[in-house]
Amino acid sequence: MFDHLTEPKSGPRIQTSPATVELFRTVDQELRQGIVSPEVFSDPELYALELDRIFARCWCFVAHESEIPMPGDYVLRYIGQDQFIVVRDEDCQVRVLFNNCTHRGSPVCRVEKGNSSHFRCPYHSWLFKNNGEWSGAPHRKKAYKKLDSAKWGLASAPHVDSVHGLIFASLDPEAPTLDEYLGGMRWYLDALLGLNEQGMRAIGEPHRWRVPANWKSGAENFMADAYHVPSLHRSAEEVGMFPGIEAGGAGPQASSRHVYFDEGHGMIINDGFLPPPWHRSGFPPEVADTFQLDRLSPDQRQFVENHSATTFLIFPNLGLVRVPASPHPDAPPTVFTYLRQWQPHGPSTIVNWNWTLGWNSASEQFNEDAYVAALSMHGPAGILEQDDTVVWGGAPVAGRSSFARKSGMRFNFQLGLDGMSDYAEDPEWRFPGRATTTALGEAPQRAFYRRWLREVSTPDSVGRTETEQ
Ligand code: FES
Ligand SMILES: [Fe+2]
Repeated sequence: MFDHLTEPKSGPRIQTSPATVELFRTVDQELRQGIVSPEVFSDPELYALELDRIFARCWCFVAHESEIPMPGDYVLRYIGQDQFIVVRDEDCQVRVLFNNCTHRGSPVCRVEKGNSSHFRCPYHSWLFKNNGEWSGAPHRKKAYKKLDSAKWGLASAPHVDSVHGLIFASLDPEAPTLDEYLGGMRWYLDALLGLNEQGMRAIGEPHRWRVPANWKSGAENFMADAYHVPSLHRSAEEVGMFPGIEAGGAGPQASSRHVYFDEGHGMIINDGFLPPPWHRSGFPPEVADTFQLDRLSPDQRQFVENHSATTFLIFPNLGLVRVPASPHPDAPPTVFTYLRQWQPHGPSTIVNWNWTLGWNSASEQFNEDAYVAALSMHGPAGILEQDDTVVWGGAPVAGRSSFARKSGMRFNFQLGLDGMSDYAEDPEWRFPGRATTTALGEAPQRAFYRRWLREVSTPDSVGRTETEQ
């Protein structure tokens, strides 16, 4: 499968060493048995390939439209480790501009957010419009008489698009459209975020903080890991913050299942936290009454009336959580929605980014309660977040261990594989994606790592889709 490997035709030269080609072969074979090498979470060469072939190629989330509502509004964001200015230009078009000057590479914008018609580089004062075009330089008429200014604008993402306020960009000129990339996940985004025409907005600033872990550990956890909930997060139940924790897990008392796609997107569907109809449960009438289910197809309506997605992943690194939680110990639970991004910052460091989303149709009080509830669970000091980020740190440590390598240590992804449990594909599921009968399995995680392998091992074009047999 990997004998065809050549280097990319353009872009940075990332060498694929014979050892890495061998590792790809091993991962390919072992994934079929549900096992994964710890090196996948720590290897520097693999990490360089991920930046080149995953983050510089896939559609990556960069901002919420509500963060840059006016012409000139901008925020600084990352795709992989590259910094971009996400800006609404004077014609209201969203641009994703590489924040490195075309003269000598200095960042042209050094403020996290603001409003500007132009960006002036601090080094020699080259000037760029907020659509990225080269606009001027000191002594232009004497110094740059023959400069072809059309060639010296800021580099920009070739594709930018948005869905329900979420702005994505792809750095690959050959990328499919965002809708094609999302595939069946687009259907679920309508059902989760498109419930009324007023839409949602980001509340306040996104929080960001560093975690000593590999980005894939966060991604696979939000995609499908209901199994860890009653064990890792038990203390949240013990202090009264997460009553009925077994219902949120994958065991016999849970009502969780997976929906996933071979493209590496997926979600946990949980029918145990709140009674149906889900689109009204937990939301006060002031919010629920604004939901316009006639915007949805009959199938989508049936989905939101009977099922609730509690977490999801859009490959490679955008997650969402929608669960009930209380903003204060004595307050009744509300339902919060937040976005999470695991930004890679080396093979064993993530910068976590969190945006709590509020409903534009809701009161300030409702949105503030949702914000506080989201922070208390998944903010930098959130009780669930503390649990998760501590345990994710172990994978790269094992990956760096000589003992682990020499002894052939492997991580186990066999839950639900080949009769390991009653976990199976649900033939009755009539909505997009593959649904499972329970969450006591790891088929979505295996699909995630197959997508990861296809992308990271394929130099020029997006890897072909392979399904678990
Ligand atoms: S590096 Fe930007 S103007 Fe020289
Ligand atoms: Fe967790």
